[in-house]
Amino acid sequence: MAAARNLRTFGGMSTSVHALRGFRASLLRFAPDHAQAIFDQDGLLVVGPGAAGIQKVVAVGPYADVAPHYPGLAVEHLPGRIIAPGFVDMHIHYPQTDVIGAPAEGLLPWLENYTFPHEKRFSAPDYAADVASFFIAELLRNGVTTALTFATSHPTSVHALFTEAQKHHMRLITGKVLQDRHSPDGVRDETEQSLVDTETLIQQWHGVDRLGYAITPRFAPTSTPAQLRGAGELAAKYPEVWVQSHVAENLGEIAWARELFPESASYLATYADFGLMRKRAVYAHCIHFDDSDRALMRESGAVAAISPTSNLFLGSGFFDYAGADRIGFGYGLASDVGGGTSFSPFHTMLAAYYVGREGQTKTGLSLSPQHLWWQHTAGAAQALDLAGVVGNLQPDCEADFVVLNPQATPLLARKTAQANSLDELLFAMIVLGDDRLVERTQIACRSS
Ligand code: GUN
Ligand code: FE
Repeated sequence: MAAARNLRTFGGMSTSVHALRGFRASLLRFAPDHAQAIFDQDGLLVVGPGAAGIQKVVAVGPYADVAPHYPGLAVEHLPGRIIAPGFVDMHIHYPQTDVIGAPAEGLLPWLENYTFPHEKRFSAPDYAADVASFFIAELLRNGVTTALTFATSHPTSVHALFTEAQKHHMRLITGKVLQDRHSPDGVRDETEQSLVDTETLIQQWHGVDRLGYAITPRFAPTSTPAQLRGAGELAAKYPEVWVQSHVAENLGEIAWARELFPESASYLATYADFGLMRKRAVYAHCIHFDDSDRALMRESGAVAAISPTSNLFLGSGFFDYAGADRIGFGYGLASDVGGGTSFSPFHTMLAAYYVGREGQTKTGLSLSPQHLWWQHTAGAAQALDLAGVVGNLQPDCEADFVVLNPQATPLLARKTAQANSLDELLFAMIVLGDDRLVERTQIACRSS
């Protein structure tokens, strides 16, 4: 009888309570499909092996409600801590880990003088593996458990990052950069071979463990029409694979793209013309848009990776939240390291608040702390078509989570102790938080 009582059913499987683990702390999560946060002051998170062998959330809620259903459950008590979903970074460049903080007169000189010369180094497998290892450790230290990241044009850079992410059981998406023109020797690839390499990498890595592939044209100005056409054909052939690129970041970049593709209705429309706008297509920046561009985003199902620290650092401009919401296309937050200045989701959320407030070039608004947090967790997951998989702690989500210590610094402790509402608590962490706030990052390890 005792054994029967200890059997819980989920995911179509009966599992002994002994295969489950509980974590008791304050709990932050989001309503499905909603930027509304749910906070349990004294919560219980129960995780256990899911159908694919990956640890999943089995139950979550107030301790007093959930605990009685799991007699005998081994519970780790984390008093004073907050368990929250692992952060999702929608756009980052792992090979630019060492490019952070490179000064330049805007995007194009920054690419030419710092980024392209640095990315050449990733043709060397040992160098790529070394940076990949540091990069993954830095993501995890900052509480980022899923990332959509650029590699370089060298297939070896993709192997290095997938290999490292696989070691950590991470859900991570990357792809070989496509750039067959207007790029220096050492990073420029060759049209036919680049497409063959992309398809080989898709077949080798997409769907292996928790890994996903992204077809990755750098941006329209560094690809020939033939390369973009080939990328679009692969995007149609492999609809489960992601697409990632950059668009409408900088006025000089836009002028260049318009010169190179004058037949397209806009810079963004160039991507649509080559079959690169669809669900699971993620465009970084999306700053200098008009309403036709916004409508194209909405209608195609493509989404924006808003990269506020990068946009402030490079002086690119300010993402128009009011415009995006008026037309209604999907978006989430991204660090865009190394144009971006920090791996920390707290720094990115604060920069997003600054960008939202800016009211000289567009409507200024005050994004709520819940909305900012959602953009970097459940909202980012939804934009990546991974809602219910990562970025939240609802039942059946993969159990990637962070343990936050709101006492981590004297000022954090002082400020969070005075919070009178969930918004005040979250905002104190967004404004004052960094890697010190992240006490632990838990990845949903394979249980078998
Ligand atoms: N546009 C094309 N390449 C890049 C890049 O590496 N970073 C940013 N921020 N924009 C780009
Ligand atoms: Fe970028």
